[in-house]
Amino acid sequence: MLAQEDMHEKHIDYMKRVLVLGGAGFIGSHTCKALKQAGYLPVVLDNLVYGHIDAVKWGPFEKGDISNPVDLDRVIEKHRPELVMHFAAFGYVGESVQEPSKYYQNNICGSICLLDAMRRHGLDRIVFSSSCATYGEVSSLPITEACPQLPVNPYGFTKLVIERALADYGAAYGIRAVTFRYFNAAGADPDGELGERHDPETHAIPLAIRAALGRGVFKVFGADYPTPDGTAIRDFIHVSDLADAHVRALAYLIAGGTSIAVNLATGSGTSVKEMIGAVERALSRPVPAEYVSRRVGDPPVLFASPARAHELFGWKPRFKTIDEIVATAANWFERHE
Ligand SMILES: NC(=O)c1ccc[n+]([C@@H]2O[C@H](COP(=O)([O-])OP(=O)(O)OC[C@H]3O[C@@H](n4cnc5c(N)ncnc54)[C@H](O)[C@@H]3O)[C@@H](O)[C@H]2O)c1
Repeated sequence: MLAQEDMHEKHIDYMKRVLVLGGAGFIGSHTCKALKQAGYLPVVLDNLVYGHIDAVKWGPFEKGDISNPVDLDRVIEKHRPELVMHFAAFGYVGESVQEPSKYYQNNICGSICLLDAMRRHGLDRIVFSSSCATYGEVSSLPITEACPQLPVNPYGFTKLVIERALADYGAAYGIRAVTFRYFNAAGADPDGELGERHDPETHAIPLAIRAALGRGVFKVFGADYPTPDGTAIRDFIHVSDLADAHVRALAYLIAGGTSIAVNLATGSGTSVKEMIGAVERALSRPVPAEYVSRRVGDPPVLFASPARAHELFGWKPRFKTIDEIVATAANWFERHE
């Protein structure tokens, strides 16, 4: 009979290993939890520039950089993953305008370095984190995957370049990719094990929660938009719903699915004022807010159709209302800040 430890090792050996680049970050860590729950072993490679080591709880951690072929070879040879998930990138739109070089280096050169490592090691399936920022200013709503992609900032452009690279690597080298274009990722693990810890934080929900908890004043950029309450409308999608879509995408690729780009969104918009209302209800405290002028390049309304994700993967967001999404984030911040 096998000793308990040997059985554990053997079980781990049977699990499909997924190399998760950027798995110590917000969406990556939530996805690692979902992967483990679905029977995969997530192997995280992260340079911890923005990630948190204590968010890596569901599989091995390797410190390394996607731009370093030595790091990638070492980790792939050691853990022998079968599939790849690529979250590792910089994601601050404003910074990408100020310091495009940083974004071109990390998001484009780093991703190409990763794709070449995949080729070297015969890895041919990847789930890639793209963004609604690849669409730029849209002329019709809801946004579908067929809408033109005309990014208006370097960050969005770096994501679009990798979408194109994936198409080219697919045609030439047989790499198959599910590309997810996330809308506004939000919320926190409903069990309270993980949350959003960006530093600096630029996302609206954590900032509104922090303001309600006495840390600053929440800035509302624009109250004169042509929307019912004058504030901008966005499509907030719960991070655990994103994680669930990633697990489904792996099953799709394992079953032989071809490369595809897919929006991850709820299909309906929430105004900034409505979001503030949800934060106030969740915390039973007011959100101190300051109304300032619109930011350049912020469209009035953005929301997207999740129809393709539903048709392909049977995916539907579990967290449908802004109150449900905000409640999970508020729970995290109340316990951790
Ligand atoms: N959060 C959102 O609303 C949102 C929306 C659209 C797209 N995205 C994309 O989703 C992905 C994940 O976003 P997030 O919010 O979890 O970001 P995050 O910053 O929390 O996570 C990214 C992780 O990647 C790591 N990383 C960055 N560069 C690296 C490198 N060169 N080598 C190794 N590790 C590296 C960071 O340390 C961090 O842990 C990103 O690619 C982002 O562009 C996010």
